[in-house]
Amino acid sequence: MNEEIISQFPTLTNRNYLAGCSQGLLPASTSNAITAYHEELLADGANWNTAMGMLERARESFAALIGAEPDEIAVVSSVSHAISAIATAFPDALTRDEIIFTDLDFPTVADIWTAQTKFQEKLHMISSEHGVIPLASFEERINEKTLLTSIPHVHYKSGMKLDIKEIAEIARRKGSLLFVDAYQSAGHCPIDVKEMGIDFLATGTRKYLLGIPGIAFLYINKGIADNLYPGVTGWLGKEKEGARKFDSGTPSFISAYAAKASLDFIQSIGVPHIAAYLEGLGAFTVQYGSEKGLRIYGTEEPKNRTSLVAFVHPQAAEVVNKLQEKGIVLTAKENIIRISPHVYNTRQDIKRAIDEIVLLTERRDYENLHF
Ligand SMILES: Cc1ncc(COP(=O)(O)O)c(C=O)c1O
Repeated sequence: MNEEIISQFPTLTNRNYLAGCSQGLLPASTSNAITAYHEELLADGANWNTAMGMLERARESFAALIGAEPDEIAVVSSVSHAISAIATAFPDALTRDEIIFTDLDFPTVADIWTAQTKFQEKLHMISSEHGVIPLASFEERINEKTLLTSIPHVHYKSGMKLDIKEIAEIARRKGSLLFVDAYQSAGHCPIDVKEMGIDFLATGTRKYLLGIPGIAFLYINKGIADNLYPGVTGWLGKEKEGARKFDSGTPSFISAYAAKASLDFIQSIGVPHIAAYLEGLGAFTVQYGSEKGLRIYGTEEPKNRTSLVAFVHPQAAEVVNKLQEKGIVLTAKENIIRISPHVYNTRQDIKRAIDEIVLLTERRDYENLHF
């Protein structure tokens, strides 16, 4: 593993950090960019033009990351903001008015669509089977009434990766728009929106893009934006063309500074390189965890896997809290423990985390914990 990369993450000096699916670690260059924003405010007060310039550069960098043009990218505050804006943007009286999402989508997707009076009776959920959604389910469910199909690129709990290209082909053939939530994939899975056939894509920056909360990017294919009229909007989106009409109010500039630096960092290594490295770490996590008797949550099929690996555990939160005391940072969701490495991690990090889970479980130390 490249020591040069590891040396750029100050947190690694005292943490075994495997929680990229929640918050990625900040590279030193991102930390410096955050400080630069702060220093500009201290030195000059108003820094609107400089900050707006940085925002534009962050937009351009994100566009380059996913194979889009800057005018196809809106800057919003969260993925929930992006989805809400889309949900309000369709004209009334469309012949297609049904929305499909899946049980692998992050809960905010269902929350937002359910809150739209116009679509309340028009929602359909596709269920996964043994952690995956067969293509046949999309083939069956998407029909001539479907306006939009929402899928995650990577499932936030199991790390399962959906085959976007295949699903996009079905959606396109049947006339549905395709929305992809890339919050768990951007930064470690290659994305080319044109090649993959994606109409909308949203992601924040605080996970595998190694930024901070407060900013998210929304890609909208340029042929589509002209017929959309977002009801979640603001003065910065007014009278704009393309995806920029989804820009809203004053953005979190500090997040834009961080995003630009983090995108530069990711691009300096290259997503294909990160993906190849993490494929090895993910396979190791599955293999070593299985050897140690841990049960994988979700599919073990390598082609559907990412390096985010979840293990079933009856006291996941307690174990994660206990490991935190030892400087090992993992995340828990209900009855699963997630190990989510990034390019700054090694096999040794993963081995140590799994060994500690197993040790704690054998000793059942967590049973004495009270939360
Ligand atoms: C896949 C996915 N989508 C959406 C969200 C929520 O994003 P936001 O809080 O920016 O709305 C998360 C947060 O963890 C997520 O993992």
